[in-house]
Amino acid sequence: MSNRTIDRRQALGFLAGIGGAVALGGATKALGGATSEPTTPAPKGTMARLPWPYKTLDPEAVGQRAFDAYAKGHCMYGTFEAIVGSVADKLGDPYKGFPFEMFIYGMGGVHGWGTLCGSLNGCAAAIQVLSANPEPVIDELYRWYQSVALPDFAPKGMKFKNVPSVAGSPLCHPSIAKWCEASGKKAYSPERKERCGVLTAAVAHKCAMLLNDQAAGKFAPASAVDPRTKTCMGCHEKGGPMENMRSKQACAPCHSDETLSLKGHQKIKL
Ligand code: HEC
Ligand code: HEC
Repeated sequence: MSNRTIDRRQALGFLAGIGGAVALGGATKALGGATSEPTTPAPKGTMARLPWPYKTLDPEAVGQRAFDAYAKGHCMYGTFEAIVGSVADKLGDPYKGFPFEMFIYGMGGVHGWGTLCGSLNGCAAAIQVLSANPEPVIDELYRWYQSVALPDFAPKGMKFKNVPSVAGSPLCHPSIAKWCEASGKKAYSPERKERCGVLTAAVAHKCAMLLNDQAAGKFAPASAVDPRTKTCMGCHEKGGPMENMRSKQACAPCHSDETLSLKGHQKIKL
């Protein structure tokens, strides 16, 4: 539809949408009168303002809470509820009334699509809610997740032996595949189900430590990108001669040296 065909009713609806969005930031004045229905500005200090006031977390307790929450709402709900729910408990109402269940959608890399690992997705949402500078914390958490043998945290209530594996990727599908390879178990086995709960606990535990560090001014992130990926990005990411992709993910799981050379790609020397 071209701009010219937008009628008055649609335009007002659009402006009302903007008014609503701005109200979340507590600044309706600029657009006052442009909305068809009055919107109530969010008073200072309510949960509509980001970031929420931060309260130092107990990483062990957050890890355990994530393991327990996983049993109720899977991986993304598990990390988000454990981290943001712990802060909300300290802040009281209205924070405790946040609709935490919305994050059940992240299970299995978004309802079984095997895309972003739900425990990471929940943490990124939690970091966005609780940090004034979320990106470096998310970078550090994702870098850690894709390069370290996980789970590295053992909550109470585990029934099976913990088998750590390196995902090499922030995605659900490779994470589960690598674990199935390491453990010899099936993707729909009770062991795998528990492993993702333990992983949820480990990721929430790490995320709580990073948030605490940032809040205390002690946060020192490593580079989010490994040297091989950095080389690839030099040509293919922002500002490179190709600039035909966007990602901080390690390239290797999907574009190995072998698959690249099959297509005649130049050899990359590090
Ligand atoms: C010196 C610049 C440069 C670097 C570094 C570089 N590329 Fe490329 N890449 C190119 C160019 C130029 C093309 C297009 C022509 C070709 O295929 O060689 C290309 C093509 C590609 C393609 C599409 C064609 C194919 O072979 O599948 C992929 C995928 C790719 N690069 C991935 C990577 C990855 C992964 C890395 C890091 C390991 C990387 N590139 C590093 C320059 C670079
Ligand atoms: C999760 C898998 C995955 C990861 C990780 C990944 N890619 Fe890709 N990439 C793909 C797929 C799938 C395509 C589209 C199919 C193709 O061209 O191979 C693609 C396409 C590309 C292309 C364009 C290829 C063309 O035909 O022109 C480039 C360049 C590229 N990727 C570079 C990278 C670089 C650099 C990284 C790391 C920073 C990376 N990719 C990480 C899966 C991935």
